[in-house]
Amino acid sequence: MDKNFYITTPIYYPSAKPHMGHAYSSIIADFFARFKRINGYKVFFLTGTDEHGQKIQRAAESQNLKPKVFCDLISKNFQNLSKTLNLTNDDFIRTTEKRHFKAVNSLWKKLEENDEIYLSKYSGWYSVSDEAFYSDDEIEIVNNIKLSKSSGSKVEWVEEESYFFRLSKWQNKLLDFYNENPNFILPESRRNEVLSFVKSGLKDLSISRKSLKWGIKVPSNENHTIYVWLDALTNYLSALNYPDTSNNLYKKFWPASLHLIGKDILRFHAIFWPAFLLAANIKPPKKVYGHGWILSGEEKMSKSKGNILDPMDIIKEYGLDPLRYYLIKEVSFGNDGNISRDQLVKCINSDLANNYGNLCQRVISFLDKNLKLEVPNKYNLTIEDNNILNNFKENYNNLLNEIDNQNINYYINFIVNQLFSANKYFNDQEPWNKKDDLERLNTILYVSLELIRKISVLLYPIIPDTSLKVLSIFDINETDLSYESILNNDFLKPKAKLKKIGILFKKIEKND
Ligand code: MSP
Repeated sequence: MDKNFYITTPIYYPSAKPHMGHAYSSIIADFFARFKRINGYKVFFLTGTDEHGQKIQRAAESQNLKPKVFCDLISKNFQNLSKTLNLTNDDFIRTTEKRHFKAVNSLWKKLEENDEIYLSKYSGWYSVSDEAFYSDDEIEIVNNIKLSKSSGSKVEWVEEESYFFRLSKWQNKLLDFYNENPNFILPESRRNEVLSFVKSGLKDLSISRKSLKWGIKVPSNENHTIYVWLDALTNYLSALNYPDTSNNLYKKFWPASLHLIGKDILRFHAIFWPAFLLAANIKPPKKVYGHGWILSGEEKMSKSKGNILDPMDIIKEYGLDPLRYYLIKEVSFGNDGNISRDQLVKCINSDLANNYGNLCQRVISFLDKNLKLEVPNKYNLTIEDNNILNNFKENYNNLLNEIDNQNINYYINFIVNQLFSANKYFNDQEPWNKKDDLERLNTILYVSLELIRKISVLLYPIIPDTSLKVLSIFDINETDLSYESILNNDFLKPKAKLKKIGILFKKIEKND
């Protein structure tokens, strides 16, 4: 079985500092990377910055900086964000790197060699903000300004010589490809969007600009700069050392297992990208998942709308794991989700402090006071004990399958239910009233510890720091961590000394 997993985030435009939408894509990708690793997969997790094109050129000009100097500055912020978010990315690619130039040049040459490119003239609409071409019927006029209907961004008229990619020729082949690979685009609603767009007819795509200076030059014609999306998408290959296809990284990890993207960049990843690759005789990725947007008061959170919740501020105030947990749990994956400080605080208090934190605290302090902080012996298990422990075994495969369908909602709901059940179990069993029945008392505590251990393993991809802190009670560290261990009901060895830990999550009072 293929035990390699290559996951990517979009590479971010370093046109301004990172915001919550960027943090969201990255945290979700990290969730999958961590989950796969504890399942014994070799994972390659890539993120980075998309540094060419008009958008970046203009952002640099507005600061009176050379584009490369500007990118060095802002890309640093994204590299720092990766660290602050505790991402386990294996690489961080910048499209201004040599290895990337090499890959883009090779891909272009391959397309040229295969007669997929021709020189002509482009006249049409272009949005610098989206770095996208739009046809007349994709434009609307609002207050005398021409805007893209789908993104709402301003468009300008472009008329110049341009190289074209024969996208129209790939229309039927793409439809065949989608048919043969029903999971290539997820979720279903996005797949339908793409299918109807492709069925409505594909036009050849302009893939170079004469007027753009900031980018990678067309190898055979220095007067043209390669379209920034053809340049950017290639990053997924550059990081595997393409065009050297015999190297280990490429052999192990291409085609990519999952390109995780926001729904606004679906067309580029689900139509253009597989078409470029097929045209260059390269296998397309296995899956593209278009997640929803983080909204603030029903609007997409974005710089131009001025409704940004800065991830750095939130982390400083509430900590990283609460933010990771909140975004993963409260934004129903695949859909748009509204976020707010109030909801974040509620989530910290109810799920993290009351539910998880409290369970760990109660069980450990009971053991400390009554059982010398050692793993107790377990005696005869009751039906309740077996039921609650076996829940994990019974759902083991379900959880695996659901995660392979990117159903994060299922995964987190399972955890929340187990947390409720574990707290209820501890309450109902009343170990504090069992001091005359030490065998039962020991057994209840053994089962409770096993529940804490199993739940903490499941929480690892979501709140890694806290999960590892709790697992350190049992002397389990990151390198020993395995998803499979939730099958085991006798993992903990009686008499093993347990470690104490401090409070996991402080409850946030209204006036804090
Ligand atoms: N540079 C391109 C991607 C090239 S990939 C080969 C780009 N960059 S971006 O910085 O504008 O956006 C990167 C990702 O962040 C996209 O997936 C986008 O959907 C996501 N988000 C940006 N704002 C968002 C929200 N408010 N909510 C959720 N994600 C959104 O596009």
